[in-house]
Amino acid sequence: MIDTYCDLAVELALAAGDILREGFGTTFKIKSKDGRHDLVTEFDERVEEMILGQISKRHPDHSILAEESGLIGEKRGGVKWIVDPLDGTVNFAHGIPMFSVSIAVAVDDEVEVGVIHNPMTSELFVGKRGQGAKYNNEPMQVTTTNRLTDSILATGFPYNVAENPHHCIDQFAHIAKLGIPIRRIGSAAIDLAYVAAGKFDAFWEVILNPWDFAAGVLLVREAGGNVTDLDGNPLNMFERGPIVATNTLLHEQAIEHLKYYEEFI
Ligand code: IPD
Ligand code: CA
Ligand code: CA
Repeated sequence: MIDTYCDLAVELALAAGDILREGFGTTFKIKSKDGRHDLVTEFDERVEEMILGQISKRHPDHSILAEESGLIGEKRGGVKWIVDPLDGTVNFAHGIPMFSVSIAVAVDDEVEVGVIHNPMTSELFVGKRGQGAKYNNEPMQVTTTNRLTDSILATGFPYNVAENPHHCIDQFAHIAKLGIPIRRIGSAAIDLAYVAAGKFDAFWEVILNPWDFAAGVLLVREAGGNVTDLDGNPLNMFERGPIVATNTLLHEQAIEHLKYYEEFI
């Protein structure tokens, strides 16, 4: 069944990508969830409706956790789809062509499938637990960089960044002061997919939701990387929390630097 779920996840991510590509740059409705920068466009909703409709039609007994709809059909165990219909909404809303669709499938609380698609660059990342991960149909692997100072990192900020939650600004400043290049793409799913594909050496963010990271975490692990929380503890794939994803070789160094700031300040 895993292959069937994976094929459907790919089909839905590509179909979602077609809708987003068509909508990109047009005039559309934008609402704010927090009165400021946490936006939702009519395309977040339209794409989520399409994906949820297709999953429910083909697998009415499956549960779904999706950003705009929340949890549908709560059930322990069984099959659960974890969906971010548009990761990088702020980019999409501002005409910046870096955003993605992220779909993961968990069976009995274990994520088995991860699919991320960037429709503007035609990038497709697909992973199955225990079977590796692919970037546009070619096997992908994390980098072999073994010194943090030689690496290129990525991060993102939560929408309440102004409050400096978990010292995220201080962490950023600390890493930047080491002279390490940091990218802030604006889509956590793409950040994770790029770690898996060996473009970034590591990525961290102080707070993310399961729909932001579930598919990406599977991809990173299948490409040889390691993902934990910022203290190095195992990640709960179904709960909101901090995350650091590396090529494995850099994991301890990354945690040392990120944790240092958490404790020090
Ligand atoms: C956001 C993006 C961003 C990250 C934020 C997320 P959204 O998701 O992944 O890169 O920094 O924490 O909330 O709102 O565009 O789906
Ligand atoms: Ca997101
Ligand atoms: Ca989203």
